[in-house]
Amino acid sequence: MSSRTSDVLVIGGGIIGLVTAWRAAQRGLATAVVDPEPGGGAAQVAAGMLAAVTELHHGEQTLLGLNLASARRYPDFAAELTDVSGQDLGYRRCGTLAVALDADDRAHLRELHALQQQSGLESQWLSGRDCRRLEPMLAPGVRGGLRVDGDHQIDPRRLARALVLACERAGVVFHRAWAERFRVAGERAAGVTTADGTELGAGQVVLAAGSHSGRLPGVPDDVLPPVRPVKGQVLRLTVPRRLAPFLSRTVRAVVRGSQVYLVPRENGELVIGATTEELGWDTTVTAGGVYELLRDAHELVPGLTELPLTETRAGLRPGSPDNAPLLGPTELPGLLLATGHYRNGVLLTPVTGDAMAHVLATGELTDEARPFTPRRFARVEQPV
Ligand code: GLY
Repeated sequence: MSSRTSDVLVIGGGIIGLVTAWRAAQRGLATAVVDPEPGGGAAQVAAGMLAAVTELHHGEQTLLGLNLASARRYPDFAAELTDVSGQDLGYRRCGTLAVALDADDRAHLRELHALQQQSGLESQWLSGRDCRRLEPMLAPGVRGGLRVDGDHQIDPRRLARALVLACERAGVVFHRAWAERFRVAGERAAGVTTADGTELGAGQVVLAAGSHSGRLPGVPDDVLPPVRPVKGQVLRLTVPRRLAPFLSRTVRAVVRGSQVYLVPRENGELVIGATTEELGWDTTVTAGGVYELLRDAHELVPGLTELPLTETRAGLRPGSPDNAPLLGPTELPGLLLATGHYRNGVLLTPVTGDAMAHVLATGELTDEARPFTPRRFARVEQPV
């Protein structure tokens, strides 16, 4: 058994763990990440919409504040990460068009528009004809839509790769292994033991293992994050050069109550997502999932059936009880969380990195991160 120590140990090398490690290392903290495959995880499946405005939901105004704070950071964040890593991130300030296919969808979209207006967000109602003028591949039946010029996209796979490189360049140490057991010593977080028996220790330990964060053996029950896996199936198609530009911005809709979105990249990839399934740890791509996504996407953009289907994949979103992330210290000294980002992990990457580095360096949460303290889920002892 060997033993290694650092100031900060991040459990999980997905985009949230990586951005935490990168920003912590930039603050001069000796930082390590434990993950068998850094840069993997849900980012390998996600479409990469930066959709603070189009994914607004009733009752999520506090989360909206954090989403918008992160969206505002994106241009500088992407420029810095591109510079440091030498990687193009596929960051595209292309906007989004949310459309309605029937009267029910239109009512739903009108309600979203009203909520956006009440929240001071910019979006513009368009007729079906105006939608098709913007995106000629849309179905003739489109009944209207919302143009949101502020909701953009990034390629999460490239983002993950760039964050690995940025971490390496900032001196982050990678332990390419599974964290098998979390260790507590003297009533504080001590580190983890990996599958080969190595003990990794640190002054502060950040649990950033996405949907796995809720089941790491050894984490005391009272601080185990209430995070669960929420499956999303996603398809990737390829737009041949002769058909480009097929779509010029993200197009989305709610069809028969299910979200469907089409995210076109400059390199010809067209991502179609996503199912939302509460099926535990299942990551099977199912005929039904693929069928429903293609059926709904085809209703929006009939011409896509001509395109090669190049990939089908399922990933697990880290869902939390209020759909918002858990950021910062827990009741166990030395244990912090950066998890539970649910549908917004890619969008929230910049603000999460800043918030986590700040709390790791100073012990204090930033004002914008304070509402997302894990302590909001602390168990209250019932009198007997
Ligand atoms: N944010 C898109 C999704 O989770 O499907």
